[in-house]
Amino acid sequence: MSQLDLAFVRSQFPAFAEPSLKDWAFFENAGGSYACAPVIERLTRFYRETKVQPYGPFPASERAGAEMDEARRRLAGYLNVAEDELHFGPSTTQNTYVLAQAFREMLNEGDEIVVTNQDHEANSGAWRRLADSGTVVREWQVDPESGELDPAALDALLSEKTRLVAFPHCSNIVGHVNPVAEIAAKAHAAGAVVAVDGVSYAPHGFPDVAALDADIYLFSLYKTYGPHQGLMTVKRDLAERLPNQGHFFNADKILKKLTPAGPDHAQIAASAGIADYFDALDAHHFDGNDTDEAERGRRVHGLMEAQEKALLAPLLDHLRQRNDIRVLGPTDAAVRAPTVAIHPKNKPAPEVIESLRHHRIAACVSNFYAYRLVQAMGIDPEPGVLRLSFVHYTSPEDIERLIKALDEAL
Ligand SMILES: Cc1ncc(COP(=O)(O)O)c(C=O)c1O
Repeated sequence: MSQLDLAFVRSQFPAFAEPSLKDWAFFENAGGSYACAPVIERLTRFYRETKVQPYGPFPASERAGAEMDEARRRLAGYLNVAEDELHFGPSTTQNTYVLAQAFREMLNEGDEIVVTNQDHEANSGAWRRLADSGTVVREWQVDPESGELDPAALDALLSEKTRLVAFPHCSNIVGHVNPVAEIAAKAHAAGAVVAVDGVSYAPHGFPDVAALDADIYLFSLYKTYGPHQGLMTVKRDLAERLPNQGHFFNADKILKKLTPAGPDHAQIAASAGIADYFDALDAHHFDGNDTDEAERGRRVHGLMEAQEKALLAPLLDHLRQRNDIRVLGPTDAAVRAPTVAIHPKNKPAPEVIESLRHHRIAACVSNFYAYRLVQAMGIDPEPGVLRLSFVHYTSPEDIERLIKALDEAL
């Protein structure tokens, strides 16, 4: 079977059986997805049975540590990185903040970095602040009409002084998927490290981080069916080179030096539930489970993507035909994620969202912390844009409902 079994998928998410959510069509997935059942089960089990300091010499503690290790091992497998290249932190914003402090110690005055105005502020502001200590910050700017980043425009910003290029895999507003491997190759040729914000991409299928050749890849597990944690992969040799941001006596512990906050044991352990869910999806749709996680990750990714594109195309077709809205980003489903922001031309966006609320469409108006992007596209970041974001568990009926509700609301 190679087409996503939506009934099976939805049976894996308790939210779809929850009476208080039943009447709502959920289109704020880019803000945070529903959690899958294995994550919720693991989290509650951890709190009930193993909520003690992990890695100690007694059974509950040994189990707690083993479950945290399992999460790291299995998620690393799905992302195709080594176990010691995967770091958990409280959030993506916190992870980039800590990384930027590490870079601050490593960079010399006059060294250069490249940031974009397409990013969520999490992969922008912390890097830009390096200017305070003499780093030259260059901005790779979007086309103000399309909101897209042109890889060719990066060339003029790179030099032998460039130490870092930070950019998104996919914007949380314009949805266009950037060619990460191509951009990484350019940055690497200049001798720079790449830091990729995958927060808006990973919910649509985990990437093969090795194939992308991203030195740093960050995303947030609460948007990928898991608990409220940030996850980042950092290539081992880079993590070894970066100055320690943790306690001095942990400087030689690769998994402690870039995550100074004490780990959230229960949430880290519970994130193994995402791998349980992907395994279940794979087993349900394909013959046998005899492959490694990287391969299962590719298959599950393909399933999710095909389902999402099949729903995204008619939605974009419909939106494209309306002349009372501006769709931000491409209207071709093949090149974008199903995170679709629109700017109503004749009515304030908050008024439209209020009307959608009456139709029980769950969505929001905001700049979604991509403040610079919304501004660069000529839209007032306050109130911002109306965003409709969905994932593989969204049903065709939800899309139909959305289209009807939009027709009335606009
Ligand atoms: C594209 C993108 N990057 C980064 C973040 C920040 O993630 P976190 O909330 O884990 O700090 C978000 C959150 O909405 C996001 O959408």
